[in-house]
Amino acid sequence: MKAIVVRPGVTDSIHMRDMPDPRMGDDQVAVRMLRVGLCGTDAEINHGRYGQPPTGEEFLILGHENLGVVLDVGRNVKTFTPGEIVVSTVRRPCGQCPNCDAGENDCCSSGNYEERGIMRRHGFMAEYYVEHPQYLTRLPAAVEPFAVLLEPMSVVEKGIDHAFLLQRRLVWNAKLALVLGAGPVGLLGAAALRARGLRTVVVGREPAGDLRARIATQLGAEYVSVENGSVLDLPREIGRPDLVLEATGSARVVFDAMQILGPNGVLCLLSVTGGTGTNEEPIDRINRQLVLGNQAVFGSVNANSRHFAKGVEDFVRIEEMAPGAMSRLLTNAIPWQDFKTWFTRRGSGIKSTLEIG
Ligand code: BGC
Repeated sequence: MKAIVVRPGVTDSIHMRDMPDPRMGDDQVAVRMLRVGLCGTDAEINHGRYGQPPTGEEFLILGHENLGVVLDVGRNVKTFTPGEIVVSTVRRPCGQCPNCDAGENDCCSSGNYEERGIMRRHGFMAEYYVEHPQYLTRLPAAVEPFAVLLEPMSVVEKGIDHAFLLQRRLVWNAKLALVLGAGPVGLLGAAALRARGLRTVVVGREPAGDLRARIATQLGAEYVSVENGSVLDLPREIGRPDLVLEATGSARVVFDAMQILGPNGVLCLLSVTGGTGTNEEPIDRINRQLVLGNQAVFGSVNANSRHFAKGVEDFVRIEEMAPGAMSRLLTNAIPWQDFKTWFTRRGSGIKSTLEIG
């Protein structure tokens, strides 16, 4: 089959090549790929800065944001039937740690997990893949047009889930949620927070008339542009948030976010920053505020099947609440043989996809 591969560790090695057809076992499902979403992690891997091939192999099939249709099922599989629209989770358990043993492989503690399209396991930029049914989530027809967003949505769902779990340490009536960054993750975060009925403010660099701002508003969120200002000025305008989702991709913003958090507030960090930047920060003020305010700051990566299921539930609710809003995130549909256009110049737009089938 045709697949888009990289040689991890080598800069700009991305190319299309023939790879062996995957063989479906009796306990597996064969899936034909429809499209993949492109994200910063794919670009990082193609820069040679991240990712690993499967053990003993040279190439890694790239792609982790996936959408496919069931083609065939093994004779022991009773839970899926051909024709169903499915999305696969990304991470596979290490088989060595208690979190992976408990199905919480998104919180693997050995670091020996595998991630499809990222770490030691082939991804989804291919015509087909095979998978065990417990890693697949079925999607209803109503959300199919934007279902390729489920993987990044699951990442957001996990962050929010963990924020609420952490806040069980006290009596917490969250009223104001702030989302820093109006990219796909930020806007999906805003959608998930609105589905929970929270007042949500999205903060972006883009001016107020930008498509990102219009989508935020359609979701029932407010939009504040920091085009000419700083995150540190936000409390004067909107108050101090109970919950902050950081999704700008910039580590600098993290320290500003700590300074605007409300009493008992929680800050969830979602950006995987690849650089080696350093900066001077007002550490005494930041520490004092965190301590005196009983505040919590935590990082969150990946997601497990529960978060994929919650993402589907929220997608259905959001589509009822703001019809068409999610589809507006999909700004650039690229035929998959033209993959180089995105990897050489990502351009503007919100979410680009490679159309496979
Ligand atoms: C993916 C996650 C993955 C993380 C780190 C992100 O782009 O969405 O599933 O865990 O990269 O590899």
